[in-house]
Amino acid sequence: METLNRKLRIGVFGGARGRTMIDVLLNHPDAELVAVCDKFTPLLDSAKEAARENGMDIAVYETFEEFIRHDMDAVVLANYATEHATYAIKCMRAGKHVLSEVLPCETMAQAVELIETVEETGLVYAYAENYCYMTHTFEMWRRYKTGEIGDVMYGEGEYIHDCSAIWPSITYGERNHWRNLLTPTFYCTHSLGPLITITGLRPVRVVGFEMNHPEEMRSLGLIGGSAGLEIVTLENGAIMKSVHGYMKREPGSVNYELYCTKGMMETGRLDPLEPLNVYKEGDQRCIGDWEHYTPEPKIAAEEAKMYDGHGGSDFYSTHFFIEKILGRPNGAWSIDVYTAVDMGICGLLAHRSLLNGNIPMEVPNLRNKEERDAWRNDNACTNPEVAGDQLLPASSYPLDEPIPDSVYDYVRQLWLEDKNA
Ligand SMILES: NC(=O)c1ccc[n+]([C@@H]2O[C@H](COP(=O)([O-])OP(=O)(O)OC[C@H]3O[C@@H](n4cnc5c(N)ncnc54)[C@H](O)[C@@H]3O)[C@@H](O)[C@H]2O)c1
Repeated sequence: METLNRKLRIGVFGGARGRTMIDVLLNHPDAELVAVCDKFTPLLDSAKEAARENGMDIAVYETFEEFIRHDMDAVVLANYATEHATYAIKCMRAGKHVLSEVLPCETMAQAVELIETVEETGLVYAYAENYCYMTHTFEMWRRYKTGEIGDVMYGEGEYIHDCSAIWPSITYGERNHWRNLLTPTFYCTHSLGPLITITGLRPVRVVGFEMNHPEEMRSLGLIGGSAGLEIVTLENGAIMKSVHGYMKREPGSVNYELYCTKGMMETGRLDPLEPLNVYKEGDQRCIGDWEHYTPEPKIAAEEAKMYDGHGGSDFYSTHFFIEKILGRPNGAWSIDVYTAVDMGICGLLAHRSLLNGNIPMEVPNLRNKEERDAWRNDNACTNPEVAGDQLLPASSYPLDEPIPDSVYDYVRQLWLEDKNA
């Protein structure tokens, strides 16, 4: 626990999505933004300007090596989604607490090393899976803990987000941008994560599926998968369906439902901020009551309302990280490294499953030291520099021939002209 008579000094690595955390830190009573790192300098200029508007001066860096030498207590990682474990380990080795954007790791070996680094350094690692803190999912988490709905039997989590139009602004026409190389099941924690935090149960088995591959995404440069599905068995035998990807629906779908032994809870189908629906069976079988209501934020409600992005969730990952470093009770809501890895490796193992005809894959409990050695040298992923001779295809729908450079040139041009596809 930190006992400080000053604000926590925090730096942000990655200024695109990182801008959300930058804004929270510029207004937080217990923390201050001290440094931002991004190799794309316009993001540094705008972060510096935002700080100036808040009466603060921050340091900006174009390289991680310079940034990590800055005098700070903690780092927010909002860099590439496949590189979080690598940089989290570097940050903790440099003595910094870490808040990591999604996903936690690219390989099983990284999952083991990440956990061991947290254990060895004793620093706080928090996973910024904000979908667990949306007004509705956070309410479901609190209500499940009361036991009033009983034990979970089945759940669904859905994160459908058609990114085709904004592809230029999120891949910049870079052939090797992580979004172009993503496996269909990698980005699984927006859909699966809340099911795991709400129930507090560990995944023990996963089967993965990949949806077919629309030509539209290939024509924008996507080499990996468009959409994926994981069927996850939890430690109590409950089955969770997690589905996510680029499919057609506007606005995108962010939905959760949970069937339990005494009732069920579900978010609205059309909009995640529709009233939450809760059914509870009464004393008589098959007779119960519904509640339909819009939950209100219950923790730091005034501050949280200032950041209404992603269903009211964008404040909490950073806030609970700070609370945890400061040893305060609400830090218990922060998602720790074990739960982060539980969520993330379901997506890694689901990809192995679907590449092998949808076979079931056991999900190791990496809290147990004796389960780690089997995965310690497992570097299988889609990045040749990380995988070495364990390279995996990014999709079960292989390309007949490489996507031509002209596709990436076209997407880059759109990005330079600030246009959607
Ligand atoms: N939780 C959410 O709701 C949510 C929403 C969007 C993005 N994300 C996550 O945020 C992360 C960043 O995504 P993004 O949308 O900002 O796009 P991105 O991954 O393209 O941006 C990452 C930024 O980090 C910078 N960067 C990466 N490596 C760097 C290095 N070695 N040195 C200097 N700068 C470096 C890049 O220049 C870029 O500006 C991803 O992990 C993504 O999954 C989460």
